[in-house]
Amino acid sequence: MHKETKFSMLCRNLRESPKTWLITGVAGFIGSNLLETLLQLDQKVVGVDNFMTGYQRNLDMVREIVGEKRWAAFTFEKGDVRDLDCCRRLAQGADYVLHQAALGSVPRSIDEPLLSNSCNIDGHLNMLTAARDAGVRGFVYAASSATYGDEPTLPKQEDKIGRPLSPYALTKYVNELYAEVFARCYGYKSIGLRYFNVFGKRQDPNGAYAAVIPLWFKAMLGNEAVIINGDGETSRDFCYIDNCVQANILAACADDNAKNQIYNIAFGERISLNQLFEALRSEVARFRSEAAAITPAYGPFREGDVRHSLADIGKARNLLGYEPEYNVMQGISLAAEWYYKNL
Ligand SMILES: NC(=O)c1ccc[n+]([C@@H]2O[C@H](COP(=O)([O-])OP(=O)(O)OC[C@H]3O[C@@H](n4cnc5c(N)ncnc54)[C@H](O)[C@@H]3O)[C@@H](O)[C@H]2O)c1
Repeated sequence: MHKETKFSMLCRNLRESPKTWLITGVAGFIGSNLLETLLQLDQKVVGVDNFMTGYQRNLDMVREIVGEKRWAAFTFEKGDVRDLDCCRRLAQGADYVLHQAALGSVPRSIDEPLLSNSCNIDGHLNMLTAARDAGVRGFVYAASSATYGDEPTLPKQEDKIGRPLSPYALTKYVNELYAEVFARCYGYKSIGLRYFNVFGKRQDPNGAYAAVIPLWFKAMLGNEAVIINGDGETSRDFCYIDNCVQANILAACADDNAKNQIYNIAFGERISLNQLFEALRSEVARFRSEAAAITPAYGPFREGDVRHSLADIGKARNLLGYEPEYNVMQGISLAAEWYYKNL
């Protein structure tokens, strides 16, 4: 029998008393997974995306999974969080906002700092303003482990950060500062979730800025070369998407004393890129036996990358009731099946 958790109780309450949610970046990886779970919980959802890095096909997949009846509770607007009027219109009537829209990727921000700045900082300020003015009761935004920058201490604890190593990291840190200033100046309290390398279904394997797990799944399934940046001993606390979805829903509905805070969202274990490579290869070999023979090539270290990353998730456990359900190996196994079926 499943143990009753704070999250399972919350899901039951939400089902009994549905709320209205606004998800920004809803056609992206994390946004579309939030949408899927909220519609499965019979919530009413409004979503916005400009399709800069998100896809209509992600929304189509959610529609197929949840069915037409639940899909009818979703309203989509193609729009941009840099447009304050759009943010204001969408925030009206929302109980909760899950603000995910931003340009991810450290290398992209190094190539295009102005674009990252406008989407990630202007967009965030617009959404905070719109949510505050509309009286949205729970505002959760995607922060990032990139904010730890050059701080070497492991595991990472929320209050000890270093200097940002990329424009992306800077934008995510500014998000946190704006959130804090909104609490101080206007009494509007939000929650920032510092995600640590989230992965799972619908994460984009294509393009120059793809994240490592989808990129390697695609390469291994398509018989292409797998390149490890650096010596492969760079490590990450990879977090399966369902853990991240859980954290967002818990944070949106959190008590006032858990607000105006930042939380690490991860599983709380780290693996090296070399270990990740082996785990992906053995999962892919379940579907393509030839994959067992794949060997990696090693390339240069990536500019702006943090060397090691591991989260202390104690604060999220204690104050939000966050209990990640999937460790990295369980997540990789689920993701492998999805990429095999969908690539
Ligand atoms: N995936 C991770 O590991 C990770 C780690 C740390 C933080 N984050 C943050 O989580 C959030 C979601 O990331 P993701 O991995 O789902 O990326 P994603 O690129 O799949 O999703 C982002 C979505 O936001 C949309 N978007 C971007 N700029 C927009 C704008 N100006 N107006 C409207 N929509 C816009 C994109 O089209 C896309 O659909 C981002 O804020 C990202 O910085 C992600």
